[in-house]
Parts: sequence; C-alpha cells; structure tokens
Amino acid sequence: MIILEGLSKSFNGVKVLDNLNIEFSEKQITVVIGRSGGGKSVMLKHIIGLMKPDSGKVLIGGIDINTLKKKELNEIRKKFGMVFQDGALLDSLNVFENVAFPLRQHLKLSENEIKDRVFSVLEDVGLKGQENKMPSEISGGMRKRVGVARALILKPEIMLFDEPTTGLDPVMSDVINNLIISMHNKFQFTGIIISHDISGAFKTGNIIAMLYDGSIIESGAPEEFRKSINPVVKQFIKGSMEGPIVI
Ligand SMILES: Nc1ncnc2c1ncn2[C@@H]1O[C@H](COP(=O)(O)OP(=O)(O)OP(=O)(O)O)[C@@H](O)[C@H]1O
Ligand SMILES: [Mg+2]
Repeated sequence: MIILEGLSKSFNGVKVLDNLNIEFSEKQITVVIGRSGGGKSVMLKHIIGLMKPDSGKVLIGGIDINTLKKKELNEIRKKFGMVFQDGALLDSLNVFENVAFPLRQHLKLSENEIKDRVFSVLEDVGLKGQENKMPSEISGGMRKRVGVARALILKPEIMLFDEPTTGLDPVMSDVINNLIISMHNKFQFTGIIISHDISGAFKTGNIIAMLYDGSIIESGAPEEFRKSINPVVKQFIKGSMEGPIVI
C-alpha cells in the first residue's frame, strides 16, 4: 500500500534519510522507532508529500506521489489522517470546531450531519461532553485525543501518528495506545506510528521498524524484533547508554 523506495534527503549537506526502504502493509499498524532528530518526522512528511526526496520514490497504491500534479496529490491526501506531534489544534476554535474542521473543508454536509459525525467520533475517543472546551482548557492527553478525533473524522484509509504518547504520563500513554488499538479495530486503517515509546510500540505495532542513520535497519513482528541481534536495536530496546549508538 505504501512503499518508500531508496529515499534520500539532505539538509544543508547533512544526510537525514539515506537510501531508506520500507513497505507499510495494508491495514496493519507499523511503528517506526528511532532516536530524536533521526529523521522520523522527515520520513512522515515525505509520505504525505509535504517534503520531496532528493532521490527515491514514495509509492502510494503503486503511484509515485512526486510525479503528481497538485490537484492529484490533494486527492491522495484525502486518504490520510495525520495526528501531529504537538496536536496542532486551532487555538481559537473549541473542541467541536477543531474536529469539525476537516468536514467543513472537504465535504458539503448539513449542520445536523456534521453534529452527528463529530459527536460520534468524540464519543469514540472518550471526549463526550467536552465539545465546548477550548484547547487551552484541556490537558495534553485530551488534546492528543482531539487530534486523533480530527484525523479520524474523514474515515481515512491511512492514519499517521507522530509521537502520539510523547509528553504524556505512562497511564495516559497507555490510554492513547489503547485508543489507537480500538480505533484500528473499528476503522481498519493502515497505521503508521512514529514513537520512542518502546513498550507502547510492542503493544500497538503489528510490525516494528527501526530508523537509524537514515535507513531502516530492522523490521519485523514484535516478537521477532525483540530477538534482533543488531547491536543498535538491542541497545535502543534496552535504553542503555552503553553500545554502538553514537551520542
Ligand atoms: N525543514 C528542515 N530544514 C532543515 N533541516 C531539517 C528540516 N526538517 C528537519 N530537519 C533536520 O532533519 C533532522 C531530522 O529531523 P526530524 O524532525 O525528522 O527528527 P525526528 O526523528 O522526528 O526527531 P524527534 O523524535 O525529536 O521528533 C534534524 O537534524 C532536523 O534538524
Ligand atoms: Mg519528530
């Protein structure tokens, strides 16, 4: 469904992605882990066409998105729901309007239809009764959930999560991980999660992949991944200072 083929990208002469290859299987959740500053967000931005590679391809349903015209790319983008690292809520809009925003942008629905869909997805993410709150009045965990609701509202085929649990306490992280699992069961999207949260990755991922030094150095089902003999992967899973990872 989504294939990154030989993707390379440099900024100011520094290679961030270096011949990166990965296939994201349809209707599975793939968690990509890696160090801060390792290029995970850059990889996601290539998938939605916000960045163009120096070389390599981003294939979505067999189509190289970098050969598309703007209008065609916009059509493909409708398949995506994206949960941003910082939530990216609109501060001047309440919870209801934040979630309704993509509906108002992309579909012509009656006010009643909008209400039905927003209330339904807010209930799904456990935010019933919070529709009138402003983003400044709710906690980080709630903001993440609003971000998830807004990404789900157009029933996308593909959901991208950029560090959905970073900055949350372990209990709230678990709530968000469980939310992702239950939403995946309900909506059956192809999921790509970027995370440093190892325990969350093992819990939510059907596949775990590690991005290091600009490319994917290991990927597999959680039980396979855990048994990796790659010393970088072993060090990362262990969360140790000792090992081959250069700090
Ligand atoms: N638009 C840009 N212009 C220049 N450099 C950039 C740009 N975007 C990202 N970078 C650089 O690319 C590298 C990777 O950044 P990226 O945001 O992908 O890291 P990350 O793996 O998502 O890290 P984190 O886990 O902290 O979010 C960093 O060194 C960053 O400074
Ligand atoms: Mg990032």
